[in-house]
Amino acid sequence: MFYKLIKARESESVYEIKGKGSSIVKKYHDDVLQVSMYNLSENRVLYIDPVESDDSYKTYYILSGSCMIFETEERLYPGDLFIYKHRSEVQTLKTLEPCTIMVHATKYDAYKTIQDTQDTINRLLGDIQAKDHYTGEHSMRVYELVKNLAIRMGYKAKELNNITKAAYYHDLGKIFIDDEILNKPDLLTADEFESIKLHVTLSRELVMEHFNEKVFEIIEQHHERLNGRGYPKGLTGDDILMEAKILAVCDSFDAMITDRVYKKGKGLRSRARSKDYRC
Ligand SMILES: [Fe+2]
Ligand SMILES: [Fe+2]
Repeated sequence: MFYKLIKARESESVYEIKGKGSSIVKKYHDDVLQVSMYNLSENRVLYIDPVESDDSYKTYYILSGSCMIFETEERLYPGDLFIYKHRSEVQTLKTLEPCTIMVHATKYDAYKTIQDTQDTINRLLGDIQAKDHYTGEHSMRVYELVKNLAIRMGYKAKELNNITKAAYYHDLGKIFIDDEILNKPDLLTADEFESIKLHVTLSRELVMEHFNEKVFEIIEQHHERLNGRGYPKGLTGDDILMEAKILAVCDSFDAMITDRVYKKGKGLRSRARSKDYRC
């Protein structure tokens, strides 16, 4: 008779989800099975990627707290079980309060999706944080703003997944920009501003390696402006993706209200204008 007993102290590893009060504990995995425990804070969005093959599935068992399947608005409470079989669409779980969820998945590929995504997120965010503390924190704030705004606007499933990933990584290309320019206390020269502009296209390879074309398109357009004065292409009006417009608004808003070495953040009611919002 085969059995496998996993004691709590033998849990293999814990992924802390940075700055969110959330973590994923990997309890067990082998070639066909993975069991994980998700400890999620309130108002957290969890994307459920499609299961790769017909004969694999994932189950989400709610142990405490409550959450909602965003696409159908069905609410899940302790004891409820959500079984996710093969399908083409990303689905979204949104926590309504702090939540503990046991996730059980057959087939290693299902676990691998979670692990790869988490590893990628940790590594890329770590790179940003190490390079420029402001950009790391700014990325997380813009992610929260975009996520909440997009949800209110009715974004769901894959589209919600794309825009929130773009929000997280919109300034990834700043890894390649000189620190002295990023944090220069004075106004930028024209040449320095040109080099900052490059961060939009410099993130292409980093993003395309892990995500899809749509995520990069949103990122590529986050500094375009309706009047054509944005960059890198000077697009106007409807040529700019709606997702890029949402990201641009949240990005600019965060840049305006945050203190930087070269300017003091504006209050929410301030009407003062600045020539230098490096978002
Ligand atoms: Fe940017
Ligand atoms: Fe930004």
